[in-house]
Amino acid sequence: MLDQAQGNSLDIVIMDGSEASLFLRDTLTIGGTAILRGETADGPGLGFALSVASGLSMCPRQLESRYLYDRQGSAIFDRITEQPEYYLTRTEAGILADNACRIREITGPVTLVELGSGYSLKTDHLLRAWLACAPSVRYIPVDVSEAALCEACRIICNLHLSARVLGVNGDYREAFPMLREVSPVMVVFLGSTIGNFEPEDESRFLAELASSLSPGDFFLLGVDLVKEQLIIESAYNDVAGVTADFTRNLFARMNRELGSDIDLSVVEHVARYNPLRDQVDIHARFARKQIVRVESLGKSFAIAEGEMVLTEISRKYHLEACVPSLEGFGFETEAVFTDERNWFALILLKRTDSLSESRERRT
Ligand code: TRP
Repeated sequence: MLDQAQGNSLDIVIMDGSEASLFLRDTLTIGGTAILRGETADGPGLGFALSVASGLSMCPRQLESRYLYDRQGSAIFDRITEQPEYYLTRTEAGILADNACRIREITGPVTLVELGSGYSLKTDHLLRAWLACAPSVRYIPVDVSEAALCEACRIICNLHLSARVLGVNGDYREAFPMLREVSPVMVVFLGSTIGNFEPEDESRFLAELASSLSPGDFFLLGVDLVKEQLIIESAYNDVAGVTADFTRNLFARMNRELGSDIDLSVVEHVARYNPLRDQVDIHARFARKQIVRVESLGKSFAIAEGEMVLTEISRKYHLEACVPSLEGFGFETEAVFTDERNWFALILLKRTDSLSESRERRT
């Protein structure tokens, strides 16, 4: 059951829920670093094939954005965050750097659980603030990309010898059942990733998160704020074309994993901001007709010339609307941190004592 990741001391463990909780306790109390591979972990499997087939059968066609983040996609995304036009990561990292100690003062020595941690680069500000106040920190990064997660765990353990790190390889929901066991906890959800959910998925996510947390637990949420259209649109259309590569990689992944034979040179990246909906719509536009084959399901899809396939949405927030809406799910606001330009916000929330009360308020 235990298999050693190549050339390092990371244990990759595959197990079911009950074993997971035992393992969780051991790693986090005795120390060390490990990766727990969940059912929804990334990797060649039927999940991607089924998701592509279902998305390409829709009208208009749309693909699930979690599949953007395979090994290659996570590496490309990391380069997006370094592009001069992509202000989000830089701005959020600045807010974290300025306020990590203040956040730690408010929360006390809680376990950190990060959803969609990628390479965990920004989290280092929090880890440092935690380690400045106590000899050790418990950190649970959760990500669908095994490659990014392993790399993150390795880097953190080398940097912070006393950190106790348990990577969870899977989607966000796999971590929810663990939250009660590791409470008191602060769930960290950065990068305005919440804006990549459709509004109804966002509501479901927040309700599930609130009911998985214990009263007094914390939630640190990063949201990109509504601003001038040109600034937002440029962030998703970098001149170097890295974001276009990111969109194209989803189709390259189909070629790699599903036996599709898509001519990637016909896949164009189109990202437009819709100010009426406060959201960026990201599409792949097919400059020529293509047949997309999903080998394992024996299915093919004919995409017409000029057809657009939605690959992601990125919603932007107004603080005045966003904060009360979050509170409606059973949180109270502890603090809101922003940058000088008010481009991005980090909202620190605390789970209230009872959920029923806030649910009533919402209905
Ligand atoms: N959470 C990021 C965002 O909404 C994700 C992202 C950035 C993204 N650039 C992208 C997703 C391009 C798809 C395509 O900003």
